[in-house]
Amino acid sequence: RTRVLTGITTTGTPHLGNYVGAIRPAVTASLRADTEAFYFLADLHALIKCGDPARVERSRRELAATWLAAGLDPERVTFYRQSDIPEIPQLCWLLTCVTPKGLMNRSHAYKASVDRNVETGQETDDGINMGLFSYPILMAADILMFNVHKVPVGRDQVQHIEMARDIAQRFNHLFGNGRELLLSPEASIEEDVALLPGLDGRKMSKSYDNTIPLFEGNAKQLREAISRIVTDSRLPGEAKDAEQSHLYVIYRAFATPEATASFRSALEGGMGWGDAKQALFELIDGEIAPMREKYHALMAQPAQVEALLQIGAAKARERAAPLLETLRDAVGLRSAT
Ligand code: TYM
Repeated sequence: RTRVLTGITTTGTPHLGNYVGAIRPAVTASLRADTEAFYFLADLHALIKCGDPARVERSRRELAATWLAAGLDPERVTFYRQSDIPEIPQLCWLLTCVTPKGLMNRSHAYKASVDRNVETGQETDDGINMGLFSYPILMAADILMFNVHKVPVGRDQVQHIEMARDIAQRFNHLFGNGRELLLSPEASIEEDVALLPGLDGRKMSKSYDNTIPLFEGNAKQLREAISRIVTDSRLPGEAKDAEQSHLYVIYRAFATPEATASFRSALEGGMGWGDAKQALFELIDGEIAPMREKYHALMAQPAQVEALLQIGAAKARERAAPLLETLRDAVGLRSAT
């Protein structure tokens, strides 16, 4: 069976970008009979950027409820919280010790955070913690821990998956004695929705504060968020350039090809932005309204969600422990018996 795995960092409220880039394709993949799925809440990753414990806690709950409301079936999927699996940080250390520092220097997430000092033009590492710098190694541990084949993600994560492949190959080369101890994973990306733009047209991201929340709030709040999508100043009656409009790109991520084509002709035929926003709202709300109800019901039952996560953690550890044991042996940390 094909093993697939993906995670979402528990900082902030899950948004439409997480949904179309990761959650929706992951849930669809998990329904295939030939697939074994591992989906998790990346709460150790959250600590890199978020020093607010209440926020981390809240986000973990929101994200767990989001996955379940979006149709994840915890009977079919191994669904867990990263911090419940102590084997992951242990593997992370084994990998850290074989990862060249130069590989991490190239990480986009790190490079984007290196400040340029405005006066001197010099780049500086000030304010960057080691968690951020070695973030891709923890992510590699997440993936390699379960020897998975495919990782459904949005395009922004592709580099991290390539790094996980590099790290796996290096580990095998150093310690495998010809064996493939760690499998090299592949990213799987839905090209149409690889990178969903946010309100301002940049990538929808918690860091840019340009997100449209997925289930948090109600239909009216979704309508309001959609009304804040930035558009050009063309008036109703004037032809719009669909390809240049991120509202159109968001529409396309939710609609069938036929509906997308007719939305496009309507825009080119002079549909006003107000009507376009209403159409987008109806499209998205039509897909997510039933899930939103489920989400709010789950948010009101934290103990039930917690119980599912504990079952998931037990399943995940059952899989992780034997592999970790093999790897410990391989590096010379055989348990004394
Ligand atoms: P994170 O939490 O930033 O995003 C979670 C998932 O959502 C996708 N995504 C998007 N897709 C399309 N358009 C967007 N605007 C958009 N914004 C986010 C991301 O590509 C991702 O698939 N490091 C990861 C979390 C992680 C992980 C892993 C993922 C930790 N360990 C192991 C896969 C496998 C992250 O911060 O994603």
